[in-house]
Amino acid sequence: MAKDLIPLQGTDFVEFYVGDAKTSAFYHQVAFGFQPVGYSGMETGQRDRVSYMLRQNKITLIFTGSLDASSEIAAHVAKHGNGVKYIALKTDDADKCHAVTTANGAKEYLPTEVRKDEFGEVKISSIHTYGDTVHLFIDRTNYKGDLLPGFEKWETEMKTEEMGLKYIDHMVGNTDWGDMQKWADFYNKTMGFEPLITFDENDISTEYTALKSVVMASSTGLVRYPINEPAKGKKKSQIEEYINFYKGAGCQHVALATDDILMSVRKMRAKGVEFLDIPDTYYEDLTERIPEVKDKIEEIKALSILVDRDDKGYLLQIFTKPIEDRPTFFYEIIQREGAESFGKGNFKALFVSIERDQERRGTL
Ligand code: FE2
Repeated sequence: MAKDLIPLQGTDFVEFYVGDAKTSAFYHQVAFGFQPVGYSGMETGQRDRVSYMLRQNKITLIFTGSLDASSEIAAHVAKHGNGVKYIALKTDDADKCHAVTTANGAKEYLPTEVRKDEFGEVKISSIHTYGDTVHLFIDRTNYKGDLLPGFEKWETEMKTEEMGLKYIDHMVGNTDWGDMQKWADFYNKTMGFEPLITFDENDISTEYTALKSVVMASSTGLVRYPINEPAKGKKKSQIEEYINFYKGAGCQHVALATDDILMSVRKMRAKGVEFLDIPDTYYEDLTERIPEVKDKIEEIKALSILVDRDDKGYLLQIFTKPIEDRPTFFYEIIQREGAESFGKGNFKALFVSIERDQERRGTL
């Protein structure tokens, strides 16, 4: 596999722009077991925004809301609803990330900045990607803190139990009609990512809807970005529905890895997280296809978890329903037992399930 053009060590954090950061943070704390770690707002010198930082193992999420109706955050939320604004990548050379990506066609978002506090400094460069989404390159080489300059420790009396979420496995971008290849090329040219797998409407379609997808990945495998675009079907696909409601391209889902999906999903369901329903028929021949799950099949079925295999092993996965008002962003929970693929064998069952929800929403 070709070498990456820029040094990336995985995802640093994902930042959402939301209508109300406090409630989004609380929801992730209670429903997904994220722990409160950082706060930034008027008390820390911010005038136009408030941010809550939460963490679970290697996953850091930031929820930012606006204090000012004329801020870019308010405008982003008015247009897109709650959604991913920043996909921040870890690097040890933010200048190189900026120089190489912009030399190869990426558009700078903000000039490179150095943020300082008592723990040292963090250098941040940034470029635009699909839609209004932005990549930040975060260089913590000269920083000893575990938050970010501008954040203070966030203490809360409410203790929530972690739910076994370990790291970000992949993040998916939904792009507009005919744009998939353009954005796949973007990741190839600017970062050196290579296509890992490609799916077209023959792989991902039902009687009604279809999509195309290509997985772009860094050579290290630490960063994996499937890029989707809608494909023509008899009715409107979930990608088209997303584009219509998000008002353009954006992050469709973040896949969170766990070592024990049964435990993670059991706990999330108990806290009210809604997942896509899977028909009983899906499980009829499952143990023949994937005998490894035989002794757990009853709970897998009860929790509506999906299972797939490739030549390296198998994987278990499940998808939440959209976690905000618009039918846009959702989470995937994934447990890999050797498999390196993305659950192609489940696409059809998933699409049929999503179509049932789309039908209820009147958007199919
Ligand atoms: Fe996924």
